[in-house]
Amino acid sequence: MHARLTILVIFILCVCCAQVQHGIFLGPHNLPKKHYQQTNKNIYDNPNRSPIIFSGGLSGGSLMFKKDNMKGEPFPCFSTTRNFYQGWINLLEIIPKISQPCFLLDIKPEFVNGTVRSREGLTVIPKDFGGSEGVTYLGSAPLGKKIGPYMLGFFNFLIENAGYKLGVDLRAANYDWRLGPKEFARPNGDYANLKSLVEDTYLKNNNKKVHLMGHSMGGPYLQTFLATFVSQEWKDRYIASMISLGGSFAGAPMTAIQMTAGTDFGVSIFDTGALRGIIRNLGGAGWMLPSPNDDVMIMTAARNYTSAQMKELFHDMGSPDTYAIYKSESEAGDKTKAPNVPVHCLYGVGTPTLTGAYFSSLNPDKENATRLIYKEGDQTVPLYSLTLCDDFAKKQDQQKYPVVVDRYRNVTHISIISDMIIFKRVLEIVTNK
Ligand SMILES: *[C@@H]1O[C@H](CO)[C@@H](O)[C@H](O)[C@H]1NC(C)=O
Ligand SMILES: *[C@@H]1O[C@H](CO)[C@@H](O)[C@H](O)[C@H]1NC(C)=O
Ligand SMILES: *[C@@H]1O[C@H](CO)[C@@H](O)[C@H](O)[C@H]1NC(C)=O
Ligand SMILES: *[C@@H]1O[C@H](CO)[C@@H](O)[C@H](O)[C@H]1NC(C)=O
Repeated sequence: MHARLTILVIFILCVCCAQVQHGIFLGPHNLPKKHYQQTNKNIYDNPNRSPIIFSGGLSGGSLMFKKDNMKGEPFPCFSTTRNFYQGWINLLEIIPKISQPCFLLDIKPEFVNGTVRSREGLTVIPKDFGGSEGVTYLGSAPLGKKIGPYMLGFFNFLIENAGYKLGVDLRAANYDWRLGPKEFARPNGDYANLKSLVEDTYLKNNNKKVHLMGHSMGGPYLQTFLATFVSQEWKDRYIASMISLGGSFAGAPMTAIQMTAGTDFGVSIFDTGALRGIIRNLGGAGWMLPSPNDDVMIMTAARNYTSAQMKELFHDMGSPDTYAIYKSESEAGDKTKAPNVPVHCLYGVGTPTLTGAYFSSLNPDKENATRLIYKEGDQTVPLYSLTLCDDFAKKQDQQKYPVVVDRYRNVTHISIISDMIIFKRVLEIVTNK
């Protein structure tokens, strides 16, 4: 069976990419015309609503860059910028042969002394943290245009049907997804910022507890925060529930497949080979490599690799750092530890999900993978990874609160953030119906 991997790679854990692709390929004229500010529907103001803080998936959050005296920047890249500018993602920064080489240097984190970090002199922060602009659209284009709608429709629905206010009781805790849980947990890191944001949101909303909602890697991002970073007393005071939309609690083989084949992150301006070196160095991608099992994942003429053989896989690929990143991030972030707050697991089932592929080599040049192996899942994440959310209920020593599971037959990893059935279910949860 042959398939175009370039289509498959769109489904990178991140979801969002497909949306970015629409933004870029179909042009701004195809994006939703209606902005939440310009809604002309009657807003139903539900007094029972509780605040929501949202975290997106891998690549599902805009990032701002600032450079200070960066050493060794090739022409024509700037070594210093006066202000922060949008780095992920910005049409002006990814023009092939002009700005794109600079972007590719900057987006790639280094792995130094056991941690993933930005290059010396580059500061990366999430766009509009605590607001919503880092997740409603992921990209910007000239003349103030926004591209790549991500949570736009979901947020519009919540605004119109319960009276949510952006930046007040509907906020984004976007984060530097190029890093992983080892870095999230550092002093002044993304988890410290998330903790402050929850406290601020609680206080500004008459001491109402906050729902933490995550999509894709955003599920494990929030679960690991709850299970390892904050105390039980803190959770009991501030957290209403964790809502996981397609959370990948055992990662996904798709990550390893993309690290082999390359990926354009759903933005076809990129050359998949050029981004291969970048995805192999991302802390978040290392964390989303699948937990060890005996399923054949990467096939070559010489040998096959399962997810329990990733040390050999990345060694043979010539990318041993990827294995070191995987080890360090999965030790720092245990995706199976129960969050011990009320949990809602929402995910799609019943869609074939790629778990294995054959390549002519471990560094193939623009080739379509063959002999594809599929398992059941949500098209990106296999069922065994999605159902680990249900399993929090079984950890009775760790999880004292209920775990409610909702499975949806016709929902995929990407459609889960734009499906009306999901919107309505989340509305019930957050308005306590
Ligand atoms: C790595 O750690 C060592 C020992 O702590 C330190 O001397 C060195 O400067 C670090 N390297 C970099 C590139 O940060
Ligand atoms: C790799 O796995 C496939 C599918 O299980 C099998 O058909 C093939 O013979 C294996 N190749 C090698 C080199 O072991
Ligand atoms: C991959 O598949 C697509 C569509 O089937 C085709 O257009 C393209 O030429 C193929 N690429 C390679 C390198 O075989
Ligand atoms: C799934 O979609 C098909 C076709 O659109 C529809 O007939 C079916 O009822 C849907 N199933 C569920 C569970 O929604």
